Amino acid sequence: MSANVRVSALTPPDVLARKGGAPLVCLTAYTTPLARIVDRHCDIVLVGDSVGMVLHGLPSTVGVSLDMMIMHGQAVRRGVEKALLVVDMPFGSYEESPEQAFHNAARIMAETGCGAVKLEGGETMEKTIRFLTRRGIPVMAHIGLTPQTVNTFGGYKVQGRGDDAFHILRDAEAVAEAGAFSVVLEKLTATLADRITKTIPIPTIGIGASRTCDGQILVVDDMLGMFDTFRPKFVKRFAELGEASDVAVASYAREVRSREFPSDAHIFTDGKKGKTE
Ligand code: KIV
Repeated sequence: MSANVRVSALTPPDVLARKGGAPLVCLTAYTTPLARIVDRHCDIVLVGDSVGMVLHGLPSTVGVSLDMMIMHGQAVRRGVEKALLVVDMPFGSYEESPEQAFHNAARIMAETGCGAVKLEGGETMEKTIRFLTRRGIPVMAHIGLTPQTVNTFGGYKVQGRGDDAFHILRDAEAVAEAGAFSVVLEKLTATLADRITKTIPIPTIGIGASRTCDGQILVVDDMLGMFDTFRPKFVKRFAELGEASDVAVASYAREVRSREFPSDAHIFTDGKKGKTE
């Protein structure tokens, strides 16, 4: 067993039991320091494949690899003690067959110590979700706008308008029947998200969905104001750390150029050792 393996305080059955209860608070994290902060306040920490866009500057999540997910999963594991840690299965690591999905999900779980994996897809993934859950791998599903298949959607569009609603409701029922312990609903009309939440027996986690969902999730860099490449309507910024970082880096550059930094407080003298050395 890898040294990373640790049992989270919150488990997939605990999350399932929260259906219809107090809202599940979920955020992504990709690094140990931020994972520590997120863990203090959230029920679920997701190592999302959004890491590819947010931290690695990729144009979409399509280029994210299994090794990237495992590396960030291990980093986040070191910062999470009480929340349920979920790691995304990246594009190409599960779609081929249930066996391929099991092989890669087992690797993610063994090497990161996460409590569950997340994968995108509804009815088309029903067989795979059943295969995984019956073999000891808890699965969080993800339907509606599924960013890994953005190329077939023709952009990050709102899902569930018109006839599409019926298919997405069917997706939700399929993943619940297959044994998923929760499902992310991304960028759906609120009417459809409400209906799915009322209909299926597992918690729905909304991102651009509805306030009636059983929980909410956002990409942490989005809500902290650190990611500016695009800014969907569903993102509320709870801080402007991108702007604050820009101001801080500008001050540093100015002080280095003017030789104001480092000052006496930041250099070492020949005399007695200071307290903060
Ligand atoms: O990759 C991710 O961060 C996600 C969330 C947006 C749900 O899938």
